Amino acid sequence: MGSDFRQTVRGMRDLLPDESWRLRFIEDCARRLAGLYGYDEVITPIIEHYDLLAAKIGEENRRRMYVFEDLGGRKVALRPEFTASIARLVATKMVSSPKPIRLFSVGSLYRYDEPQLGRHREFWQANYELIGSDKPEADAEVISLTSDLLRAVGLKNYMVKINHIGVLRGILGYEGILEDKQNAIMQLLDKKDWEGALKLAEEYGASKKCLEALKTLFNVRGEDKNVVFERISEIAEEYPSTLSALSNFSEVVDLVEEGGVDIKFHFEAGFARGLEYYTGVIFEVFVPELSVAVGGGGRYDRLIEIFGGGEVPAVGVAFGIDRIMLAMEKQEVNPPKPKRARVLVVSLNEGNLADAFRISVMLRKFNISAEVEVMRRGLSRALSDASRREITHTVIVGPKEIGEGKVILKDMRSKTQEEVRIEDLPGKVRV
Ligand code: HAM
Repeated sequence: MGSDFRQTVRGMRDLLPDESWRLRFIEDCARRLAGLYGYDEVITPIIEHYDLLAAKIGEENRRRMYVFEDLGGRKVALRPEFTASIARLVATKMVSSPKPIRLFSVGSLYRYDEPQLGRHREFWQANYELIGSDKPEADAEVISLTSDLLRAVGLKNYMVKINHIGVLRGILGYEGILEDKQNAIMQLLDKKDWEGALKLAEEYGASKKCLEALKTLFNVRGEDKNVVFERISEIAEEYPSTLSALSNFSEVVDLVEEGGVDIKFHFEAGFARGLEYYTGVIFEVFVPELSVAVGGGGRYDRLIEIFGGGEVPAVGVAFGIDRIMLAMEKQEVNPPKPKRARVLVVSLNEGNLADAFRISVMLRKFNISAEVEVMRRGLSRALSDASRREITHTVIVGPKEIGEGKVILKDMRSKTQEEVRIEDLPGKVRV
């Protein structure tokens, strides 16, 4: 047996109440935002056919999938992302739905990554896909939504690293380097291995001029759109497809900026993503306190077609909920828990247990959170336990008061107490 089965499996975590609450807080913000932008929630399975998930996920992610054969002999995998499942859904059950389709999903995902700060083998994402439009306003919407989500959870100083995958593909394609080989180069760029990427391009037969262009391009980065775009267009002068990618890129950025979206861009011409399905603008979101991205996304116009759904352009973004939790911790963002009465009902002796039970049932009918003291502790120990657990009110049920249809209501914050008729309790315990 080897490993200690009382430990969670490496890379897996238990989320204790406070962490679960934070995760659900972010999830709630994400779901509210989905409603605000008109995204409908869909729930897709955690287990999908390996071939679906592996199709365009990229070499690195493919190797990190949890793959197994089910009892029916099917090669299946735990989903490492939502996008493939959503593309499948759109290509099949929603193929004739009117466009655009806006879909939101949230849930756990699985990647055999090396566990470290902000990197787990089971993690959560909030995912948004806008399907059916190839227009820059669709990309701009997804970036606007990105800014709104990070603001809604209380994060500050976030930044979007952005590029257009067509800038690089335009140059590589012009050199006759086919898509598969381009993908291998992108994998290296995703890991910031610019040297390795140049070497591979050379191996694939890129001309000296092309290598020179790429080398210069990899160093083009900065916050000033005009400066960066000017540099890229100089370098890509002779690559028409790069120039048209740049013009699309520019339209998206202009729309975001003119639309007044509160976001800081960091342009980086040598930036690529590990996922292979991207065809247009790509981006990742960072906060200064973390070196790993809290979200990432981009345009993928050909994935749905691969799954037999016809030519349907799409753009989307996914946020790492775990990493947002971490970023909130680093930035000391503590969302206030909603104020709610929490009542503990204590009976002073065994003879009043049923009365205590009945009162708790009645309070819950009024939508008031009520717990019965189930440990049969004495009053003083029950009260100190109540203070520790953020109970706002204690209802003390004793034989004398019950005989008169009353109980003692103790306000745990003000430490005051009064006799209250049982039917008046719901009105008295509100916070
Ligand atoms: P991704 O960049 O692979 O994109 O993942 C999005 C986010 O998920 C990352 O920025 C990160 O916050 C979080 N994440 C990824 N891996 C881990 C991990 N091992 N532990 C914790 N968090 C992690 C996608 O998944 C694309 N499907 C996004 C997309 C949607 N593109 C278009 N539509």
